[in-house]
Amino acid sequence: MKTARKLRVGMLGCGVVGSEVARLLIANQDDLAARSGAGLEMVKISVRNLQTPRPGIDPELFTTDSDSIVDDPTIDLVIEVMGGIEPAHQLILRAMKNGKAVVTANKALLAKFGAELFHASDEADVDLYYEAAVAGAIPILRPLAESLVGDHVERVMGIINGTTNYILTKMYETGATFENALKEAQALGYAEADPTADIESFDAVAKAAILAGLAFHTQVTDEDVYREGITKVSADDVSVASEMGFVIKLLAIAEANEVHGSDEETITVRVHPTLIPKTHPLASVREAFNAVFVQCESAGELMFYGRGAGGTPTASAILGDLVAVARNRIEGSLGPTETDYADLDIAPMGVTKTRYLIRLEVLDVPGVLASVAATFAKNDVSILTVRQDGRGADAELIVLTHIATESSLSSTVKQLADLDSVKDVLSVIRVEGLSS
Ligand code: HSE
Repeated sequence: MKTARKLRVGMLGCGVVGSEVARLLIANQDDLAARSGAGLEMVKISVRNLQTPRPGIDPELFTTDSDSIVDDPTIDLVIEVMGGIEPAHQLILRAMKNGKAVVTANKALLAKFGAELFHASDEADVDLYYEAAVAGAIPILRPLAESLVGDHVERVMGIINGTTNYILTKMYETGATFENALKEAQALGYAEADPTADIESFDAVAKAAILAGLAFHTQVTDEDVYREGITKVSADDVSVASEMGFVIKLLAIAEANEVHGSDEETITVRVHPTLIPKTHPLASVREAFNAVFVQCESAGELMFYGRGAGGTPTASAILGDLVAVARNRIEGSLGPTETDYADLDIAPMGVTKTRYLIRLEVLDVPGVLASVAATFAKNDVSILTVRQDGRGADAELIVLTHIATESSLSSTVKQLADLDSVKDVLSVIRVEGLSS
């Protein structure tokens, strides 16, 4: 089907994702035109360096002047894949003010300035789509914003960083240390030379904020999200967990909490290494794959699985958005706008309730178990199981708790560390996915 109408597309940035977007837009132009109701013509791409070879893309398209895209009155749609906060932030605002629909993959920007950007898209009556910002190719934002919008989301729990999932998979499957698994991830191109954003969970925090905002109709920024990285996860943690029937995953968890004695809800949003039973659906998500597990009041449990990064998978999500905004433009309509009507309070991490696995190095002398158990009891933390492994004069105590609040648990751990019989608190890892 040929369509006479054309929409002109400008793109800000042309790295791994952008070059795949440009390539696929050209390779699939007839199908994309038929599906959009208009030809989609890439007319300008801004880049930092004109000399970088970008095979398969007409060199005439490139410019170093991003303003010439967002201010060009003949451009209808803008794709932002340059990343980072500035200048992407100001460029997107200007593009929308100038009447262009915008498709972006910029999670860091949305997690900081989402509210401002959504407001600006409302004001300008233009679409702002961003499926690629969370979990790459996996359609998860539109299902939350559209398919599940008639339901009540109770909890979203996801593996939304491929690099850390690759590292933790290697530690689990080969017994590798964190350092060696990270080196392997870097050699294979999963982890960056500076891996901080992934291994310290900044990347997952931004995605968690976006997911939580959509799931709970509330403004959530990266600063509202509790964050722990995976750098302290040891090979011993992984093997003890495995012996007890768990795997360790870096999970992003956004959940609604009942406020005691009222009908109100608050939410908590957190990203940290988490133990889940080997039988949990998220436990089977290996290597660099992502998955998002959603629990809803009526729909029950759903899981969305796929590739969370990489040029072609991410380009798939961007092109899906591009077709959607093109269709809207042709029809003179707009996609759904973000709602933050629920405006739920974001509770501090201290009120989070979960289970914990605590590994302690203790002296192997009479009364140690009693003093450790008394410390848990004093803080109202109930113990589910205790395991002790003797090691000469010392022993390792592994305590799995019942559900307790984060604040009770952290005072327990502080007091345990002060006991003469406790030589070291080896690790404290939260546990999810056990039935109560
Ligand atoms: N670095 C991310 C990951 C992909 O490892 O999943 C981009 O968000």
